Amino acid sequence: MAVDHKRFLADLHKLREFGASGVGKGVIRPAYSDADIAARKWLAERMIGAGLAPHFDPVGNLFGLAEGTSLLMGSHSDSQPEGGWLDGALGVIAALEIARSCDRPISVVSFQDEEGRFGVTTGSAVWSGGLPLEHADGLTDGAGITFGAARSAMTDLSQGFVDPARFSGFIEMHIEQGPSLDASGDQIGVVTDIVGIRDMSITFQGQQNHAGTTPMHLRRDAFQALSLFNTRLNDRFRNVVTPQTVWTIGRVDLHPNASSIVPGRVRFSMQWRDGDADRLARMEEIIRATAQEVADQQGLVLEFGPLLGLEPVAMDTTLRTALENGAGRVAPGKWRKMPSGALHDATNLSRLMPVAMLFVPSINGISHDFAEDTAERDLVAGLDVLEHAVQALV
Ligand code: GLV
Ligand code: MN
Ligand code: MN
Repeated sequence: MAVDHKRFLADLHKLREFGASGVGKGVIRPAYSDADIAARKWLAERMIGAGLAPHFDPVGNLFGLAEGTSLLMGSHSDSQPEGGWLDGALGVIAALEIARSCDRPISVVSFQDEEGRFGVTTGSAVWSGGLPLEHADGLTDGAGITFGAARSAMTDLSQGFVDPARFSGFIEMHIEQGPSLDASGDQIGVVTDIVGIRDMSITFQGQQNHAGTTPMHLRRDAFQALSLFNTRLNDRFRNVVTPQTVWTIGRVDLHPNASSIVPGRVRFSMQWRDGDADRLARMEEIIRATAQEVADQQGLVLEFGPLLGLEPVAMDTTLRTALENGAGRVAPGKWRKMPSGALHDATNLSRLMPVAMLFVPSINGISHDFAEDTAERDLVAGLDVLEHAVQALV
């Protein structure tokens, strides 16, 4: 067995062409977009070339199946609305290279909507049984399109759900998407745990009105409510969070979003992540109570969307040890164990089988941005670690 670094890098660049943004190495390939579906069809062809049987399931997850029992490897090939070329793509193409260079049974997967256009890691959440398909079908994206309607663009390809029992475990390689490895100069991170996440939308409904004639004390201004909520929340979290806890209001839909109108409604995303499920629950209480308090004080109506989430998970010891040994061989003295602050499909798969993850550095710690990148020597080092691990395992 010998991985082919050139072929691996060439395929990684080829995948980038689907939805290439024109800015740096950026990619716009959200789940079920034309670019995403075209990329999946191209991947299916590459899987055939690797001797695997391509298989699309009802939500658009693409598997390249080896015969019999196999080790599953991969990640996702959808992107954020503004994304980089490696987030997800790296793990899929690395898995493809391992599968075609290895004389042992390796299957490959590209999960659908890992980036959460509709939820949180939607494709693998449905496949793993963590999210019933009927619930997923009702989830909506920022424009109000349902998951059910979006996935219908791929149902003509569907061959039913794959039986997870055919896989002995799952290994996902990914870029770190944070600053740790880049800052320490390490080439490889072997993941110990993946944080948990909670995500829900919040709506403040006030009164739309004229921005010149409505006295300040009579306003029920949705933006002012959001602003107050954010300030109070940051203050109240102070005694609960750790330096590793993160929270984000990343999408704000202010209505009607015009300079001469007091905004009557704001709907926004509220997301928070931590490695401790109890802390996630405590933060939820604070979010709900603070939002209610602001709504009551300002005379607005408050509405919470469904709470989505994934629990924190630890990696499997056997798979992780194989990655650690591989890292020791490929990057002696230049690798470390580390938690993942980003979410990954591996979290869902841990319900079904042993899972482990490997990181390579993100230059300047940038990801979910067109500027996301990783040095070529690090991409290749990650592939080599996978190769060592697979040889030891399968
Ligand atoms: C996945 O992209 C995440 O948001 O962690
Ligand atoms: Mn990813
Ligand atoms: Mn991502």
